[in-house]
Amino acid sequence: MKPHANRLLAAGRTFGPYLAIELVMPGGSLLALLLWTLPDVLRPGLEVTGVSRGPMSFNRHPGSIHVGGICNPPDTTGEGMNIANKTVLITGANRGIGRALVSEALVRGAERVYAGVRGGLEIADPRVTPVTLDVTNAAQITRATEQVGSLDVLVNNAGIALYDDLSNPALIEQHLAVNLYGPLNVTRAFLPRLRRSQGAVVNNLSVVALAPVPVIPGYSISKAAALNMTQAMRALLAGQSVSVHAVFLGPIDTDMNRGFDIPKAPTEVAARGIFDGLERGEEDIFPDPMSQSIAQGWRASAAKALERQFAAFVPQSAAAA
Ligand SMILES: NC(=O)c1ccc[n+]([C@@H]2O[C@H](COP(=O)([O-])OP(=O)(O)OC[C@H]3O[C@@H](n4cnc5c(N)ncnc54)[C@H](OP(=O)(O)O)[C@@H]3O)[C@@H](O)[C@H]2O)c1
Repeated sequence: MKPHANRLLAAGRTFGPYLAIELVMPGGSLLALLLWTLPDVLRPGLEVTGVSRGPMSFNRHPGSIHVGGICNPPDTTGEGMNIANKTVLITGANRGIGRALVSEALVRGAERVYAGVRGGLEIADPRVTPVTLDVTNAAQITRATEQVGSLDVLVNNAGIALYDDLSNPALIEQHLAVNLYGPLNVTRAFLPRLRRSQGAVVNNLSVVALAPVPVIPGYSISKAAALNMTQAMRALLAGQSVSVHAVFLGPIDTDMNRGFDIPKAPTEVAARGIFDGLERGEEDIFPDPMSQSIAQGWRASAAKALERQFAAFVPQSAAAA
């Protein structure tokens, strides 16, 4: 009897060279116990993970990394980042989710919020400093680094979403310029500051990074690419004490998706969810009700397991650079 993958529940415990796995089969009726030797899989410092409805029931080894990768609890980056008394730069801060993030950072006691904007900014708070920052403009990125002193948290929020049907390559490039190269170049520019502060990069992605919405394929492609970039950056910076977080936003009530007649969460909910996830140290943040509904599936996915396995390829020298 083959368990249905998406209904498989397992909890594992290692006994010397053996791994015991309890499987709850579809329908919840059958409980199986498997034992097998793991000479090539279990090495000191490696850990097998399992899926469980409740807390994981097997030992966690300090400094271990995950293999196998079916693991329900959020992956954390170690210590979470509390916003209080921190300096935060948010791109695309004049409206939508970016603006809500500015307000939420102030509520949480941020010392300074640098608000990246292309035009004016209506938030009048002495702790907010507007920074002219078109994320596609290299000169403005450089000027922004000169304007911002120390930095603890960079939120790559600026983004565009345009309808297309893949017939116009220029539209795809436009999405990539803002949604992929924008966060990449802004992050690279602020990396020295983030290394000094042992800070955090938060990339506002979307659930469409995981599956395209076919009426916005250019946007979906750019968010999928930005997720891949986020994962690579996370692995490359892990040894440098800079944490990199992916935010899988569901539909939020902003100008961006005015045309979609679907339930949308308020921007305040998204902003709170993002900073809550950051404070909990979650590397993948699901900040709203829709995105939360897929969090468990993502964390238990083959794609997530591969991310962890491939991250182990980063040479120690690169991780420490
Ligand atoms: N709303 C959703 O349902 C949803 C869902 C998933 C993910 N997201 C993501 O969340 C982020 C914020 O989205 P939103 O809904 O708040 O969008 P929004 O209301 O349309 O706001 C977009 C923001 O990005 C800025 N921006 C656009 N191009 C820029 C550029 N080249 N350089 C700098 N800033 C630029 C805009 O500035 P201007 O005012 O100057 O145009 C604006 O501040 C985006 O990355 C988006 O992909 C949103």
